[in-house]
Amino acid sequence: MGYHQATYDERLLSEIGSGNTYSVEKTNRPEIPDGIRRKKLSLPDVAEYDVIRHYVHLSQMNYSVDTGFYPLGSCTMKYNPKFADRMAGDQRFSRMHPLTAPEYAQGELQVMYELQEFLRASSGMDAVTLQPLAGAQGEYTSMLIVRKYMESIGESRRNEIIIPDSAHGTNPASAAMAGFSTVEIPSKQDGKVDLDALRDAISDRTAAFMITNPSTLGVFESNILEIEKIVHGAGALLYYDGANFNAILGVTAPGLMGFDMVHFNLHKTFATPHGGGGPGAGPVAVKEKLREFLPLPVVVKEGKKYSLYYGYRNSIGRVGGFNGSFINLLRAWAYMKFKGDDGLTENTRKAVLNANYIGRKLEGILDIPTKGLKKHEVVASTRNTGKKALDVAKYIINSGVHAPTIYFPLIVPEALMIEPTEDASIEDMDNFVRLVEEAIKIPDEELHRMPVNLSIGRADEVRAARAMKLHW
Ligand SMILES: Cc1ncc(COP(=O)(O)O)c(C=O)c1O
Repeated sequence: MGYHQATYDERLLSEIGSGNTYSVEKTNRPEIPDGIRRKKLSLPDVAEYDVIRHYVHLSQMNYSVDTGFYPLGSCTMKYNPKFADRMAGDQRFSRMHPLTAPEYAQGELQVMYELQEFLRASSGMDAVTLQPLAGAQGEYTSMLIVRKYMESIGESRRNEIIIPDSAHGTNPASAAMAGFSTVEIPSKQDGKVDLDALRDAISDRTAAFMITNPSTLGVFESNILEIEKIVHGAGALLYYDGANFNAILGVTAPGLMGFDMVHFNLHKTFATPHGGGGPGAGPVAVKEKLREFLPLPVVVKEGKKYSLYYGYRNSIGRVGGFNGSFINLLRAWAYMKFKGDDGLTENTRKAVLNANYIGRKLEGILDIPTKGLKKHEVVASTRNTGKKALDVAKYIINSGVHAPTIYFPLIVPEALMIEPTEDASIEDMDNFVRLVEEAIKIPDEELHRMPVNLSIGRADEVRAARAMKLHW
C-alpha cells in the first residue's frame, strides 16, 4: 500500500488566512499557532477494493445474531427476521414525523393500537402503555405507578419492594430509582421463592413484590398462586417481570396468576433488536385499577378512527419521547402478525424444548443446580469440573461461537446461563455442548491463554468495567 504526500499549497493557505471573509482579525478567532498547524497530510493511496475489503473485514469481526448461534441467557439474542427490518425501513413509516397529526397517521396508530391490544390480551391484563424504551424502563415505569397508586389510596407509608435474590439486577435498581427501599429474600435450593422468607419479609410497609417468572434460573414458580394470596393479603401489589414471556406466551398469562402489572421485553419475545438501553422497547400492561396511572398518551379507537388519548388524571406523566420507540414497536407488530397466535405458541414450545435439550445434554458434564423441567433457559455450573466458567466461555469464543452469559444469576457459583431460544438448530446446540465438553478437558495452562484466534486476547475485564472510556 503506497502513500502519497499531499502537501497543502502554502500560498492557498495564506490566502485563506488573509482573505476578507476569513481574516483572523475580523472574526476575532485566535490564530492556530504555527507549531501545531499541519503542513502536510499523509493519505493512504489505496484501491477501492482495498477499502471495501478492509471495512467488510472489520464488520465481520463483530459477532451477531446474523452470524451465528448466540446462547446468551437472560439477554435473549433472538434472530431478527429481515422482513421486519424491511418494514421498519419502509419510508412510509420511517419518514413519518412523530408530531404528525393523528388524522394523517392512522396507519401508525393502528399498528400501535393492535400491538397494545395483543399485549393486553396475551398477558391477561386490561390496559397497556407502549412508551417505555427498554425492559428496565418498563420496570421503572411500573414502580412509579406503584408509588402513585399507593399515594392515591392513602398508603404512601408503603415504601418497600420485596425481590427474590434470583432477580435480574435491573429489578432492585428500578425500585430504588423510584424511591423505594428493597428487601431481598433468598431462593430455595430448587430456585423457587422461599415462601416462609416471603411471609417474614412482608408487612404493612410493603408496596409490591417483584418476581420474574419463569425466573432467571429458567424455573417456573409453581407456588405462584400461593404467592399471590400472601402478597395481596398483605395489601401490596404484584409485579411480574415478563422479560421471560417467551417461555409462557400462548400457554399461560400473568393476569391469570393474579398479577397487577407486567413489563415485556419486545426483544426477548418479539424478535426486535435489544437496543442496549437505547431504542429498545419495554411496554407495560396493568389491571384496570392501575389504568389511570399509565403514562400518556395511549392509542384509542373509536369506530374506525384511531387517536391519542391524554385524559388519565392520575397519569405518572411521560417516560419516553413521543409514542415510544415506534420502529421497534412496528417490528414487534409485524412479527406478531406474521407468526399469528399459533405460531407464537409454537415458538414458546420450541424455546422450552430447546432449553431442555441443551440442559439434558449438559447433565453429566456440568452441574445443573435446579432439577426437573426448565423453561426458556438453563443454568449450569462448571464447579464440578474444576474449571472456571470464564475459561470455558473463552474457549467457546475462541471456537467461533458466542459464549453464554456467565456468573449470572449470582446465586449459582461458576454459572453458565444458556438460552438457545426457539431459533437454535439441533446442530448448533450439539456443537455448543461439544465445545463445553472439549473445554473442560483442556489443561488449565492452555485454557487460560484463550482466546488465541481473535483480535483481542484476555481483556482486563475489571479495568474495563471500572475505568470506562465512553468516548474516543
Ligand atoms: C429478567 C430480565 N428483566 C429485565 C431485563 C432488562 O431489560 P432491558 O435490557 O431491555 O432493559 C432483562 C434483560 O433483558 C431481563 O432478562
